[in-house]
Amino acid sequence: MNTNRPKILGSRVLVTGGAGFIGSHLVDQLLARGASEVVVIDNLFTGDEANLADAMKTGLVSLYKDDAELATSLEYIFTKHKIDIVFNCATKALNYSFLNPANAFSTNVNVVLNLLEFQRRGLFKALCHFSTSEVYGSAVYEPMDEAHPKNPTTTYAAGKASADFAVESYVKMFDLDAFIVRPFNNYGPRQNYKGYLAGIIPITAWRILNGISPELHGDGMQSRDFIYVHDTVDAVIKLYDVMLKGESVNISTDNQISIRDLLQQVCAEMGYRGEIMNKPERKSDVLCHNASNEKIRKMIDYSLTPFDIGLRETLTWYQQHIKEVA
Ligand SMILES: NC(=O)c1ccc[n+]([C@@H]2O[C@H](COP(=O)([O-])OP(=O)(O)OC[C@H]3O[C@@H](n4cnc5c(N)ncnc54)[C@H](O)[C@@H]3O)[C@@H](O)[C@H]2O)c1
Repeated sequence: MNTNRPKILGSRVLVTGGAGFIGSHLVDQLLARGASEVVVIDNLFTGDEANLADAMKTGLVSLYKDDAELATSLEYIFTKHKIDIVFNCATKALNYSFLNPANAFSTNVNVVLNLLEFQRRGLFKALCHFSTSEVYGSAVYEPMDEAHPKNPTTTYAAGKASADFAVESYVKMFDLDAFIVRPFNNYGPRQNYKGYLAGIIPITAWRILNGISPELHGDGMQSRDFIYVHDTVDAVIKLYDVMLKGESVNISTDNQISIRDLLQQVCAEMGYRGEIMNKPERKSDVLCHNASNEKIRKMIDYSLTPFDIGLRETLTWYQQHIKEVA
């Protein structure tokens, strides 16, 4: 237990990227756990104001449609809202790094450097930084634990790995109260389903609902460890009380599923019996993400939603949501 860290209950919290997928669920949970105010900064690159609709109704949330790479925008927020805790979720989707590699890298680095500098100046007390399993690259041993070498294969992951090193070095140099949570692949309601930047489950659901055949890249044998977003957010909130400065922890399940099996499960769940289009393998696609969750299981009371239940809830949300916005 880190006794000097402010409790979430009664604190003023900033969530960067809080109109996005994981960030917006985190905002809901922070409110449920009694945060006195939640401020979101999101440039709506992939984020959506609608993700915060329920949260905004509490009257405790302020949304700044602004860029966390701009130090002046952050400084305004820290000064005006007297923030205690920051959760850093802002990022540009992995796929974007294939379109604009340098920008995907620099967003991941610039936002965290801004935050670390403000923390060093004493403008807030605790930082929870979101890393990603992508920093590990393809497994050199399995399951991948927190000591697995960082071997990024995209500029997105390289930016995220650099951000992790920045957090770790600022903690060592300036004794900041900052730590790293490292989710594996998340799925669930509100994940962006639009266009090239969408993840595999949402884009497949969107294609099926729009009468377009789903796509499979490569042979589909690449595997991922999928975790339900509610489980991730629940874990982050519990970890907040126990993580040591500079520590990092995987947030993952024990299971991994091949992309081929995943597609088949989504199709079956949605009653789709049409063809699946085969596309060439994506360059730099990580082959295998088999995570170790041994550490997190020792740290918190860790509960995981069975994949078929989470997937059903997710697809139901897409069915309702995509129909509503059509
Ligand atoms: N979704 C996953 O499977 C997954 C897995 C591992 C780690 N993560 C990490 O979790 C965090 C949240 O990811 P997510 O899946 O919710 O992604 P997301 O794309 O849904 O959310 C990121 C948010 O950041 C916003 N954003 C982008 N650039 C910004 C900027 N310069 N200033 C302000 N806002 C900006 C986007 O508009 C978006 O709302 C990220 O750090 C990501 O690396 C996600």
